[in-house]
Amino acid sequence: MSLLKLFSFHLIFTLSVFTLAESADEYYTRRWLKCIYSSPDLSDMVYIDGHYFNKYLFTQFNSTLGKFVGFSEYGMRVAEYWNNGSFLQAEIAGVDGFCKYNAQIYDSTVREKAVKPKVKLSSVTQAGGRHPAVLMCSAYEFYPQHIKVSWLRDGKLMTSEVTSTMEMANGDWYYQIHSELEYTPKSGEKISCLVEHASFNKPMIYDWDPSLPESERNKIAIGSSGLVLGIILAAAGFIYYKKKSSGRILVPN
Ligand SMILES: *[C@@H]1O[C@H](CO)[C@@H](O)[C@H](O)[C@H]1NC(C)=O
Ligand SMILES: *[C@@H]1O[C@H](CO)[C@@H](O)[C@H](O)[C@H]1NC(C)=O
Repeated sequence: MSLLKLFSFHLIFTLSVFTLAESADEYYTRRWLKCIYSSPDLSDMVYIDGHYFNKYLFTQFNSTLGKFVGFSEYGMRVAEYWNNGSFLQAEIAGVDGFCKYNAQIYDSTVREKAVKPKVKLSSVTQAGGRHPAVLMCSAYEFYPQHIKVSWLRDGKLMTSEVTSTMEMANGDWYYQIHSELEYTPKSGEKISCLVEHASFNKPMIYDWDPSLPESERNKIAIGSSGLVLGIILAAAGFIYYKKKSSGRILVPN
């Protein structure tokens, strides 16, 4: 599944954006530095330094190529000029001096502080008559905030009839999220909740067990504890009655 190959802990961070204008009728020049990696030992680090005018990228340094590339006549002239001088050497050194240096700091202060979500699947509404079933996949107590919750039917991504809430702050640095799926159950199918989060090194799949919906389990639990309580009370009453009647002395008058 191509989805499973998606960003396990693929981080893209943006470290500097210089903006020289604020309202719609002004011009922007922007420099966007990106450090892209997925390996924990940072060996696959790529450094991208993009130079923009308004939204147009005119020149970009790419550390895989080891040089600047221009995307317009002006951009190509800039690239040629920068490829010729000390700026290029500084950019090449940026892979270690800028990207890896900062990635180590981010990894130890953010990524390694990630906390795995506690995931719970529950039945909101059971299918009956004409209305479909509603399942809820909840993730609690995770950090950082960014998370992706999706639904699979027999391993295939479901797109329609899914509603998700935003990540909600618990107020204690942790977050929670809830995603609802409305579907018509078919026998033999497998419904699962797929959760992708920085604390996992791969997407996690939680299968729904439809054998006994939670509300039914609760009813059975309440019913059986009532029965046990009833038996205990009856037994206690019987013992009390026995004691009382055996202790009573019948005095004839
Ligand atoms: C950087 O260059 C490599 C090699 O040409 C290419 O595969 C990659 O997509 C480039 N990255 C960006 C962000 O343009
Ligand atoms: C590149 O550097 C060489 C030698 O320093 C110089 O002769 C040439 O004009 C430069 N080219 C550009 C485009 O700046």
